[in-house]
Amino acid sequence: MNFILRSGIASVKLLIAAICIFVISGSGAAFADNAPTITVFKSPSCGCCGKWVDHLKDNGFKVDVKQARSMAAIKKSIGLQPKLHSCHTAFLNRDGSAKQPSGDHHKSSPYIIEGHVPAKDIKKLLAEKPDVKGLSVPGMPAGSPGMEMEDGSKDKYDVLSFDEAGKTEVFSSY
Ligand code: CU
Ligand code: CU
Repeated sequence: MNFILRSGIASVKLLIAAICIFVISGSGAAFADNAPTITVFKSPSCGCCGKWVDHLKDNGFKVDVKQARSMAAIKKSIGLQPKLHSCHTAFLNRDGSAKQPSGDHHKSSPYIIEGHVPAKDIKKLLAEKPDVKGLSVPGMPAGSPGMEMEDGSKDKYDVLSFDEAGKTEVFSSY
């Protein structure tokens, strides 16, 4: 009797373990399939840009890197105000998919991600889908992803959202 009871508990424990493994591997697979795709334009000589790309990959993004001869021309073509400029410029479909955006309507145009924006904020952007044109970390603050300093120094910085008219709001602060 005691033995049957004990083996019963053991099999319940096994079942729970099996469910846990299923849930963990299941959610992992789902995330890999739905990994958002981001297209990053960067200058071939930019080291911090490459480090930011690694930061995105480490956080589950699929990254399509395009080497650009003139980052200034790209920023100009999308009407990015100089006050928002950083080094690299990236594009992200509003549903995170890899498909080419259709049309150029504001609502369906990809989000612009300018500079060393943390992956966490890009995920928040995809989850909340605010009606903005994109996010920017202007300049290149020390300690932002890809801008880690050897001495560990960190600047305070804001991630800004900006709209079509160039109006900015603080999206998050570090
Ligand atoms: Cu940079
Ligand atoms: Cu960069």
